[in-house]
Amino acid sequence: MLPFNSLTNTLIMTTDVLQIELRRADRSRIQEVDFNNLPFGKHFSDHMFVADFIDGEWTNQMVVPFDNFSLSPSLTSLHYGQSIFEGMKAYKNEAGEVQMFRPMANFERINESARRMCMATLPEEVFMGGLETLLRVDADWVPTQPDSSLYIRPYMFALDASLGVAPAKTYRFCIFTCPVGTYYAKPPKLKVETEYIRSAPGGVGYAKCAGNYAASMYPTMLAQQAGYDQLIWTDAREHKYIEESGTMNIMFVIDGKLVTPATSDTILRGITRDSILKVARSWGMPVEERLVSVEEVINGIETGRLTEAFGAGTAVVVSPYALIGYNGHDYMLPENTTDDSFAIRIKNYLTDVRTGKIADEFGWMHTV
Ligand code: COI
Repeated sequence: MLPFNSLTNTLIMTTDVLQIELRRADRSRIQEVDFNNLPFGKHFSDHMFVADFIDGEWTNQMVVPFDNFSLSPSLTSLHYGQSIFEGMKAYKNEAGEVQMFRPMANFERINESARRMCMATLPEEVFMGGLETLLRVDADWVPTQPDSSLYIRPYMFALDASLGVAPAKTYRFCIFTCPVGTYYAKPPKLKVETEYIRSAPGGVGYAKCAGNYAASMYPTMLAQQAGYDQLIWTDAREHKYIEESGTMNIMFVIDGKLVTPATSDTILRGITRDSILKVARSWGMPVEERLVSVEEVINGIETGRLTEAFGAGTAVVVSPYALIGYNGHDYMLPENTTDDSFAIRIKNYLTDVRTGKIADEFGWMHTV
């Protein structure tokens, strides 16, 4: 691993097999950012990592100032959608070290998405080498304010300039970062979607591909016009079972058990979701990953057996819901703001692990 002071404006080595060219920004933009007010995805750190897949290999690895790309109007990813991404976060612990949360899980997932979208896969040294070098260069951008973190956006898109409908031969992988605060300022209002679908069996729902997000925008806009913040997607066949939400997986506490839809090819395998399930099991909480019907949830709210409903994701972390709207009726959820609510306990636990306040018993933090 390189010491920080070896990062100069020269060609540097991060591993035995990877060379990364570093070109530093002439001046940092960090002074322009109010770290006490960090809207999601609006402020971009000084640098980005870029690598291209050309002639069957990853090449031209660079850390350069965050800037526009010059791209062909006939770029295949713009026309046919070969475009995938990840969301991850880095934190600074009390010793001032920058640490990423479970980066290898994102590495595995981006390659799962790449395979489904018929794109080039990434070698570990490009993904991890790019992340580590970028985070060392922009370490000052990792916020330390409560509830804030450095959101990391690795993504890959087809780079061919061609209108033929076929997998591209060239790809660009890029990573940039943004200091972020809380995603939702207050508990979101969710609407159960019973007309449109996010994904169907055999489709690409489990892949983190751009098209999944594009397809969700129209139904989400309709829900927002009706006063909700986000959707709860249901299965494509019957609209009977809950799948996930717009930017997060979804979890419930029913009869004291943590209940969440089992993942499948229609549901994103969330890393925050997986982390919460592991911690809950280690706390001795019964966990059920299974089909969860809308009826069970609504009935649970009405009878008081459902005590918590919340979203889990990298961007939202753990986000308790205010209400669930279904068939024209809003079902209010209990306010879970106290430390005895599972959502608050798990959120605090994850924050404490990520900021180094408590032991990293699962070995999830990766020091840069
Ligand atoms: C994330 O949580 O990283 C996501 O991918 C959600 C994002 C689209 C806001």
